[in-house]
This record gives sequence, structure tokens and C-alpha cells, in this order.
Amino acid sequence: MNVSIVGSGYVGTTVAACLAEDGHEVTNVDIDEGVVAAINGGDAPIHEPGLDDLLAEHGGDRLHATTDYGAVVDTDVTFLALPTPAREDGSIDLGAVEAGVRSLGEALAGKDDPHLVVVKSTVIPGTTEETVAPLLAETSGKTLGEDLHVAMNPEFLREGSAVADFRDPDKVVFGAYTDLARERLRDVFEHLLADSEAALVETGIREAEMIKYANNAFLASKVSLVNDIGNVCKEYGVDAYEVAEAIGLDDRIGERFLRSGVGWGGSCFPKDVAALVAAAREADYEPAMLAAAIEVNDRQPERMLDLLDDHVDPAGERVAVLGLAFKPGTDDVRNSRAIPVVEGLRERGATVAAYDPVATETMRERFPEIEYADAAGEALDGASAALVVTDWDEFAALDDEFDRMATPVVVDGRRIVEPREGITYEGLTW
Ligand code: UGA
Repeated sequence: MNVSIVGSGYVGTTVAACLAEDGHEVTNVDIDEGVVAAINGGDAPIHEPGLDDLLAEHGGDRLHATTDYGAVVDTDVTFLALPTPAREDGSIDLGAVEAGVRSLGEALAGKDDPHLVVVKSTVIPGTTEETVAPLLAETSGKTLGEDLHVAMNPEFLREGSAVADFRDPDKVVFGAYTDLARERLRDVFEHLLADSEAALVETGIREAEMIKYANNAFLASKVSLVNDIGNVCKEYGVDAYEVAEAIGLDDRIGERFLRSGVGWGGSCFPKDVAALVAAAREADYEPAMLAAAIEVNDRQPERMLDLLDDHVDPAGERVAVLGLAFKPGTDDVRNSRAIPVVEGLRERGATVAAYDPVATETMRERFPEIEYADAAGEALDGASAALVVTDWDEFAALDDEFDRMATPVVVDGRRIVEPREGITYEGLTW
């Protein structure tokens, strides 16, 4: 098929490259000329394992990028993979989606055959039908259900494993109402559905929109629940990881996403849970569990700092922060738990020495004034305490490095450091 994708972030680029690998002719439309040039030159514009190889093979060939929306006219289906960032009150900002939809609609005015537009961006239920569809109809002059069709296909890709997640998903969700929409979606995902164990969920558009939010809200709440239970464990001298391992054996609970600690960050969980809470309140419903999930998550960094205070007064002391990325395998620091941890240390008058294997430069934009070390040992040198915020594998191998500390107090927010003789070790929930 001929597929176009508007937006070349980690979702748009990953989906484009994987669909090209599945044999489709793919056109990526993006307003950023640098991104377009990178894709056509066979270079991945973002870092995702496996993406470099796919771009090298298909970029400029079966996968073509352009800044010209007019290119969508020659395609059968267009996916919208534009960002929906959070506003101050948690609700989503549809500015980028609306601008993209307008340009897309104007381009589609020049197409005679029916076209399918599929929303991939994370949007509140009702957005595809009440905002995207009417705007497309207005700008293209086409008639919905006749020569213009809309659908919703949420994505469940994790940063750092987006290509692998695309190739082997648990489920593929189509929200569609017309035969043409359902048939074209099945054609696009024919290979993926045949080659993987993925379940196909065919549902309504509003349900597809909600499935995405519910998926992320459930996972974030699962981690907050395990953190809440973990905090009680800590108070009673119980190891929350042993408890989690046992309860995870119950199929109804499941063993994944039970790692308690300093909480969740990134560009998805915080934004999506906040947007769902804002949408519920907009509809005059108070979502008590979701609000509590956010509250518990906000509290975890403070609990980590309280544990530090139990051992050291950090005022005027050097304190190491190990790990800045919101999770291992990425340089993304958006909503990283390292941010409130560094802020809390600075409020306490500590001198922060931070280390992360890849996220130094991204965090430097947020905190230009703190010290960034080139190695964990360098950050630990002369420090009165260390706070471990990201579970990078290399932190599990730290040993002699702790001998360089002035007082070897280690507060571990991710259960990654091996406790040993000679260090005062505090786990957040164990
Ligand atoms: C998340 C979802 O997992 C994806 O399915 C979804 O597609 C994506 O958001 C999105 O909406 O685009 P991602 O943000 O890349 O993916 O990160 P996760 O691997 O889910 O981790 C999220 C946060 O939860 C991290 O800060 C991680 O450290 C934390 N976490 C995860 C825990 O604290 N404990 C756990 O047991 C698991």
C-alpha cells in the first residue's frame, strides 16, 4: 500500500520505518527540514535501537520524507503521529494536531479517490470525531463516510524498545466505523498481524482513544500502588521486592511493572494520567484513584530525600545523583524523577554532582549550574551521600567507587546497587 505518516517523532519515524520494512511505500511528512533530510539520507532522526538499520535500508527508497503535504494525495491512508503536549492544567494541547489536520485537509482537496486518515496521536475520547473529522471535511471539501474516512489506531511503543514493540505487540487496536476504514487498516497491518501473536481489537473510535489512556493510566497506577504498598513495607521493615515477586505469581496481578521505588516519569505516563484526570474533571467526575496515583508518584522523590536527611544533613555537602534519564536506555529526562530529587537537594543547600551514562547533555539544559561527572566514581568522589535515581545496569557493578565517598551513605531509589560492607545502604521500599 501507499502509506503517509504526518509527524516524525519517535512514533511516526518508528512506524514509518517498520511499515516500509513490511513492504509498503511510505511517505513521512514533517515540517522540520533537518528531519526530512536525515530520513532521505538513510539516517535515523532519533535514537531507537534497530531504527538505524531500517533507515539505512529504506530511507530515501521505500521510505521517503518530505515537507510537502501534497505528497499525501498519492497515498491510500495517512496516519497522524503529531504530539499532544500537556497544558499547565494537565489537559492536552491540540495545536500541533489541528495545524497538521488543516494542512492535510487542504492537500486532500486535490484528491479524487476516497482517503483514510488515522489518528495515532494520544487524544481524549471524542477528539477524532469532534475535532479532527469536521476540520478535515471543512478543509478538504470532502464528505465524511463517502470520500473521506477517519479512524483511530493508538500506539503502545515504549521509548528505547519502540521497534521491537512495533514488531511484536500484544495487541493492535483499530477504532473505525466504516468498511473502507477497517479494510485499509487490515491491509496496512496485514504482515504484522500474520507474523506476530498480536490480538486484533476492532472497536469504536472513542473506545480506541480511551484504550490508549486506560493502558497508560493502569500501568502508571500499578506502579503507584506498588510504591504505596512499598512505603508501608519500608515502615514495617518488610522487603517490598520479595512481596512483589510473590504477589506477581498470581496471574490476576502479573509480574511486570511491580518494581517499586522513586516512581514513573517520561513523556507519556505523567502527561497521559494528568490529561485523563483533567478530562474527568471537565466532565464533573473526580477520578480518585488516578489523582492518588499522581500524588503517590509526586511523593516518592520527597521520601527519598527524607531517607537522606535521616543520615546526613546535606547543607553545604557534596551529594552524588546517579542516573538522570527517566529510565535506562534513553537520554530522555522529561519528567524524570531526577528533577525533583535535584531540586530537593538544592533547596537543602547541597552541592549536586550528577552522573548519567547518556543523559548529561539533556539534563544540562534543565540544570546548567550543577556539576556533571564523566563517571559514577567521579560523582561519588568526596560525596557525603549518593542518591540512585535510574536503574542503569552499570550501577549494579559499582563497588570500590563507593570508597571514594566522604561518608558512604547510599539511598537507592531503584534497587540496583548491591549493598555491601562499608556502605550505609537505604532502599526506598525495602
Ligand atoms: C509508556 C508505555 O509503557 C508504552 O506502552 C506507551 O506506548 C508509552 O508510554 C507511550 O504512551 O508512548 P515509556 O514512557 O517509554 O512507555 O516507559 P515505560 O517503560 O513504560 O516506563 C515508564 C516509567 O515507569 C519509567 O520512569 C520507569 O522507570 C517507571 N517504572 C516502570 C517503574 O517505576 N516501575 C516499574 O515496575 C515499571
